Amino acid sequence: MFETHPYSTLVSQYLQERSFPQAPAYLYDPIRYILSLSGKRIRPMLALMGARLFGKENLQEVLPASCAIEYFHNFSLIHDDIMDKAPLRRGKPTVHMQWNDNVAILSGDALLVKAYEELAYCPADKIPALLRVFNQVALEVCEGQQLDMDFENMEIVSEQAYLNMIKLKTSVLLGGALKMGAILSDASEEQQQLIYDFGVNLGIAFQLQDDFLDVYGDPSSFGKQVGGDILCDKKTILRIRTQQLAEGENKEEFQNLLFPNQLSDEEKIARMKKLYSTLAVDEYTNQLKEEYMQLAYNQLSAIGVPEANKAELFALADMLMNRVK
Ligand code: IPE
Ligand code: IPE
Ligand code: MG
Ligand code: MG
Ligand code: MG
Repeated sequence: MFETHPYSTLVSQYLQERSFPQAPAYLYDPIRYILSLSGKRIRPMLALMGARLFGKENLQEVLPASCAIEYFHNFSLIHDDIMDKAPLRRGKPTVHMQWNDNVAILSGDALLVKAYEELAYCPADKIPALLRVFNQVALEVCEGQQLDMDFENMEIVSEQAYLNMIKLKTSVLLGGALKMGAILSDASEEQQQLIYDFGVNLGIAFQLQDDFLDVYGDPSSFGKQVGGDILCDKKTILRIRTQQLAEGENKEEFQNLLFPNQLSDEEKIARMKKLYSTLAVDEYTNQLKEEYMQLAYNQLSAIGVPEANKAELFALADMLMNRVK
């Protein structure tokens, strides 16, 4: 679905032309490994689309920035998988499982450096503005990740605190990718802000969908461990809503599942999933996702560029909302 998109092909070609040294193998093999797995490549595609939206013809000039964003994203995934104790990524063992935590930490760090190396290949007059956006969103992703971890140990997290957390850990990078594309297309600051705002709302919908898929994804296509968020006590939207709604025997069941118990992982996941369905928090999650999507669509509609320039972004947003991985 995503892999066959022409922009994804452009990005893949550019990524394949980059090469990493053979040694030390434990530093560079994990980088080659994670980059070879079939990610959706939506962030680099958004950078390209952000540039096209404002009339950029030469997409080659956008590829280094796109690549920097994809490298940053993959770095964040390697470290995220250690933090989330995740066994699977893109249908394959995570880097820390395939090698070990130390290898995952350092190869992740190296990939972050490679992201900055790519930024240096961007058009020289645009580098300061690109760096400002990149650094801001990169730091915000770290802030969001720390909040996500802090929330694991908190019993009650508000929906508002959750939305702020996912905006930071996920959405700002989508907004930032679009904005960097806009900068490379000489868009005005006002236009840059508009497309960034679109990306942030798209990103919130995207993370809501990610939370949903973590429970309801099909193991044969999802590529990650289904139920991983439940096992980590992640304060996902489903979990927060359940906490708010559960009463009587549902509340009792919820508490039984939270407090130390002898349940196997499979049973804990199955029973929590049943509770989610009883309380219809899956439907609530989808509704909220739709609301953020609508907000994003309205924002894109309002941007003053030819309608034809928006078509590929609308199409990508549709693809994202119907994704299975
Ligand atoms: C996963 O991002 C991390 C989140 C922010 C939810 P993607 O779902 O874009 O992962 P890949 O790159 O396609 O594997
Ligand atoms: C991902 O959040 C955010 C970052 C990687 C920065 P998740 O932890 O939900 O992402 P997945 O589900 O592991 O891809
Ligand atoms: Mg995480
Ligand atoms: Mg994770
Ligand atoms: Mg997730």
